[in-house]
Amino acid sequence: MLREANEKDLKFLCQIEILATDIYYSAGFSKEEALPRTKENLLELLGEATVIVYEENNIILGYAAWKKHEEHCHLEEISVDPRYQKRGIGSSLIKNNPFRNECKKTTLICYKNAPWAYGLYLKLGFMPLQQIPQELIRIWQEEADRGLDMSKRICMAMYY
Ligand SMILES: CC(C)(COP(=O)(O)OP(=O)(O)OC[C@H]1O[C@@H](n2cnc3c(N)ncnc32)[C@H](O)[C@@H]1OP(=O)(O)O)[C@@H](O)C(=O)NCCC(=O)NCCS
Repeated sequence: MLREANEKDLKFLCQIEILATDIYYSAGFSKEEALPRTKENLLELLGEATVIVYEENNIILGYAAWKKHEEHCHLEEISVDPRYQKRGIGSSLIKNNPFRNECKKTTLICYKNAPWAYGLYLKLGFMPLQQIPQELIRIWQEEADRGLDMSKRICMAMYY
């Protein structure tokens, strides 16, 4: 079942973040490149974004966070508990973008050397962009300021 998240879900969201980030470390990413979102950060996300959880038997197995902007919406985050990955949960969260009827375009930024995410986005119809679109320049700069290696990051967009 998909539903909107609330503060009571924070504990599960924190756990998923820690577990799901391990996929990056196993693939050789450094702590600087991939840090799990903290409780404070997740709380902020709940306030600023629309967070959708995938729940089975009252247990949250994954979540996605979306922000709606004027002309487009942006996938801020998606994470699935590794014990339940590759079962279609990530796809279901993306296909059920809460803004799909309001926005003609969905954007995201990801690591192109993270095939579990990049592959999922390509499969679902996101296109890699050769240039940073105007609407993502601010987020791109914030990531660069945080010290991420932007040569490995890529902007993607899907048009409905
Ligand atoms: C990205 C993520 C959310 C995908 O969740 P998921 O529930 O496993 O996704 P799905 O089961 O819907 O997978 C669909 C497709 O994604 C791709 N995929 C998923 N896991 C993969 C992996 N480990 N390696 C390569 N491709 C993978 C495949 O194309 C897969 O299709 P297939 O099952 O027909 O092969 C999950 O891997 C995750 O939480 N990763 C850690 C956090 C993260 O990287 N978030 C993205 C930040 S940009």
